[in-house]
Amino acid sequence: MSELKKLPPNVELETKKVLKQLARSHRFLAELKGYADLLPDKNILVNAVTINEAKDSSEIENIVTTHDELYKTLALSNQGDPAAKEVANYRKALLHGYELLNQKEFLSTNIFIEIHKIIEKNNSGLRKVPGTKIINQATDEIVHEPPETYQEIIDLLSNLENYINTKSDKVDNLIKLAVIHYQFEAIHPFYDGNGRTGRIINLLYLILKDLLDSPILYLSRYIIANKQQYYNLLRQVTDDNSWEDWVLYILKAIEETSKSTLKLAQDINELVDASANVFQERNSSIYSQELIEIIFNEPYTKIEDVQNGLDVTRKTASNYLSSLEKINLMRSEKIGRQKLYINKPLMNLLKKAGDIKY
Ligand SMILES: Nc1ncnc2c1ncn2[C@@H]1O[C@H](COP(=O)(O)OP(=O)(O)O)[C@@H](O)[C@H]1O
Ligand SMILES: [Mg+2]
Repeated sequence: MSELKKLPPNVELETKKVLKQLARSHRFLAELKGYADLLPDKNILVNAVTINEAKDSSEIENIVTTHDELYKTLALSNQGDPAAKEVANYRKALLHGYELLNQKEFLSTNIFIEIHKIIEKNNSGLRKVPGTKIINQATDEIVHEPPETYQEIIDLLSNLENYINTKSDKVDNLIKLAVIHYQFEAIHPFYDGNGRTGRIINLLYLILKDLLDSPILYLSRYIIANKQQYYNLLRQVTDDNSWEDWVLYILKAIEETSKSTLKLAQDINELVDASANVFQERNSSIYSQELIEIIFNEPYTKIEDVQNGLDVTRKTASNYLSSLEKINLMRSEKIGRQKLYINKPLMNLLKKAGDIKY
């Protein structure tokens, strides 16, 4: 098998077809960014989308859980199935990567290693022992042999780091995202967790280049809905230097998920307003915008969340949540000794967004 080449690719990436698709991808991504900019509480959307992104990006790697298991783990970390715990780590890694990027304003190998450490909950770091290969699970066939030695891996990562952070080349940033994702996966710098780390890098890269302000693109939804193509196209870059179809795939993924994430954002925003109206009409004495924001911050709320968020006693917080249950805005559920209040309509929107096929 031939050696993995350093970036940039030795082909013209900005072909006619690519440029045509590129305009659409930029247009819909910018629309999503613009809409999110205007939202009064941006955390609601970030928290919601990262739940789904974490779930699907993990599912690409056969780490499969349900929204119901997942919110138990997110609320009470000792609950939920093992896959839900892994998904919760993934979301933590994504949000942590976002924080790191805000502090440093560039994307480095060290950040990749930190993200990976949270996903995998271990310190294994970059590969040092040879033997890692990408295998087709169905046929056992070797589809890619990534670089073997530690020296090759760090040289290629340093080349990738330059490519990511340079401002001097003239290639469009969305095309570069496709190149970066291929190259990261082909380097395969870790023993495991490369797919998930790479898909977090995708979102961080969009933020680095000011194409989004926060990790709100539900990009893995497209990949999981078109998974075989994802694998085939990655492979064809390696085997045939066939970049155009790969770039088109990623650009299409950005276009489609920008549209569907915008719809999700609009639905959530409308739901927040509708719930605020019901709340105000049915129980104006305890209504506050802050309480609405708390019950939409995550699809579940604990009594402590209200207690701390509004700086009220536990008893008052508990009364508020019971009142919200009476007017059907929340539904309580006992898990072990903990009481959780579920925002069912919000949960349902997240579940529905996770069913989209493209
Ligand atoms: N032919 C290929 N060339 C390069 N990368 C590939 C190829 N096939 C699959 N991949 C990447 O490898 C990832 C799986 O790697 P792995 O380290 O197991 O990730 P994770 O643990 O997150 O499961 C896939 O999600 C994909 O991004
Ligand atoms: Mg794996």
